[in-house]
Amino acid sequence: MTDPLHQELLALAQEAAHKAGALLRDGRPADLAVAATKSSPIDVVTEMDIAAEKLITDLISQHRPDDGFLGEEGASAEGTSGVRWVIDPLDGTVNYLYGLPTWSVSIAAELHGETVAGVVAIPMRGETFHAVLGGGAWATGAWEGERRLACRPAAPLEQALVSTGFNYVTEVRAHQADVAQKLIPLLRDIRRGGSAAVDLCDVAAGRLDGYYERGLNPWDLAAGDLIAREAGALTGGRPGERPARDLAIAGTPGVFEPLQRLLEDFGAWHD
Ligand code: IPD
Ligand code: CA
Ligand code: CA
Repeated sequence: MTDPLHQELLALAQEAAHKAGALLRDGRPADLAVAATKSSPIDVVTEMDIAAEKLITDLISQHRPDDGFLGEEGASAEGTSGVRWVIDPLDGTVNYLYGLPTWSVSIAAELHGETVAGVVAIPMRGETFHAVLGGGAWATGAWEGERRLACRPAAPLEQALVSTGFNYVTEVRAHQADVAQKLIPLLRDIRRGGSAAVDLCDVAAGRLDGYYERGLNPWDLAAGDLIAREAGALTGGRPGERPARDLAIAGTPGVFEPLQRLLEDFGAWHD
């Protein structure tokens, strides 16, 4: 049995992710433009990122006025309940801007600093992933109902399909390209999907053997990391550490450790 509070937080995250996903899918203007830039000229935000975050935080505050928030588009509140919501209202903004389908809404609920519920909605796939701590990872799809997720059986690293991402800051992405260049001959292949939350769910769903990236923020990671772990994947950062800005890695048992070792050898956490 999972904790009733975790289930309550999950249900609220599902409702918020579903409504924000519908807003983003159905409300995308044909002439969608960049509203502002953040860490670099290619780190963009659109009016839709901002509208989706507002929808999510308004809905959650109506139900749980004492909770805290950390949202990519500025939501920030301490809260007094011990619950904090970690929100990426639109993960994969560049894909969304160009009309590519790989983007998601990522919502996690932390209780006293530990992620206890996570939802990643991927509207253009008609899929939503969710997990509560200790309750397994699940996917719901319009055409297949609800199914429990399990990551792939262990493959040798040279047969592993591994996804990654590149940071918006030029110096960081240049080094990331060097690391990827060293990894490619050692793997089956590399993918660059464009949404960290989707990558983590794809590890959970057995569609990837692994994923790694440097430079992620808590809102990119929180929900997808729980979903990947609940599907049996291992997640971490540099050896002995939790996934963090320096480095985030997820992989099937068998792929995780050799991948982590190579990334450490290649200095994947620095420029
Ligand atoms: C980005 C995506 C991308 C990853 C970047 C993230 P955003 O998030 O997750 O896949 O490579 O590091 O910043 O900006 O689209 O929310
Ligand atoms: Ca993001
Ligand atoms: Ca975002």
